[in-house]
Amino acid sequence: MNLPQTVHNQSNAFLLKRYQHRLLEQLELRLPDSPTAVPTLRQAMRYASLNGGKRLRAALVYATGETFGAPLADLDAPACAVECIHAYSLIHDDLPAMDDDDLRRGQPSCHQAYGEAIAILAGDTLNTLAFEILADSKNTACNGTQRCRMIHCLAVASGETGMAGGQTLDILATGTQLSLQQLQAMHRLKTGALIQASVQLGALAANTVNVQDLAILGRFASSIGLAFQVVDDILDATASTATLGKNSGSDSLHNKITYVSLLGLQSAQQTANELYQFALECLDGLSDNTDRLSALANLMVHRSH
Ligand code: IPE
Ligand code: IPE
Ligand code: MG
Ligand code: MG
Ligand code: MG
Repeated sequence: MNLPQTVHNQSNAFLLKRYQHRLLEQLELRLPDSPTAVPTLRQAMRYASLNGGKRLRAALVYATGETFGAPLADLDAPACAVECIHAYSLIHDDLPAMDDDDLRRGQPSCHQAYGEAIAILAGDTLNTLAFEILADSKNTACNGTQRCRMIHCLAVASGETGMAGGQTLDILATGTQLSLQQLQAMHRLKTGALIQASVQLGALAANTVNVQDLAILGRFASSIGLAFQVVDDILDATASTATLGKNSGSDSLHNKITYVSLLGLQSAQQTANELYQFALECLDGLSDNTDRLSALANLMVHRSH
């Protein structure tokens, strides 16, 4: 259970910074600012994916992979791929037809900067780029079977039974009522699925995780993924626009059903805490050193933005 002392002494924030730095370098390599056939599209993709963001999904890929012995070089592709899907989901989430938000990561949303049509296309192209990156055999020792499993994992998490399905439920529920069970199901899909996939991708790249440990990781990721969206709901109601880098109070303005609107602030906070505690308990079931994963779980729940 002991990490080398150097790693052990690093704060949670330092661990995240290390992963953020690596992700940015790797994403830049895959989306260079070089002459392309369609420069405007490339600029919009770069604008939405390279500017800011906590990179928690990429960090989960790296942390899970490292926990199970994968070299960072084998984790770069899945880390970049999941961040491409995430950036695409944010572009589309902010569109006037969806949440109609004009601020993202402290700057005008992609459609504000590039117009709606280009923003939609930049989202579409980040979506396909994710799978292009995963399929590529360059710069990874992951074999064809692993790459195929990663593609399948990310596709499922992004699609009808994942993010896009959850976003659809969110849009359809806006202005109506949901039970707690329905809200939980919606959050698990729209946000939890991609977070769960991030952990799975790290495990798939490592290729050393047994079935029992995979199931434990799945429960960990499912719990922390839901907690993450509960905290997002809480922050929307409590933090300032300046802190968030996106419009505070957007959920109530747009009649969204959230953990805060349904349960109230205190119960929402309690739910987030319980989910966090359960996630940590899941990690106790693994014999590997899970310090990296518990550090990230902590950052995902105890965050200011
Ligand atoms: C925001 O995700 C959208 C949700 C799914 C809650 P993040 O809070 O991870 O956004 P960035 O990447 O840090 O901007
Ligand atoms: C978004 O949830 C989930 C996505 C799949 C993008 P929100 O709509 O609450 O995310 P923010 O608050 O705009 O980042
Ligand atoms: Mg939304
Ligand atoms: Mg939104
Ligand atoms: Mg939100």
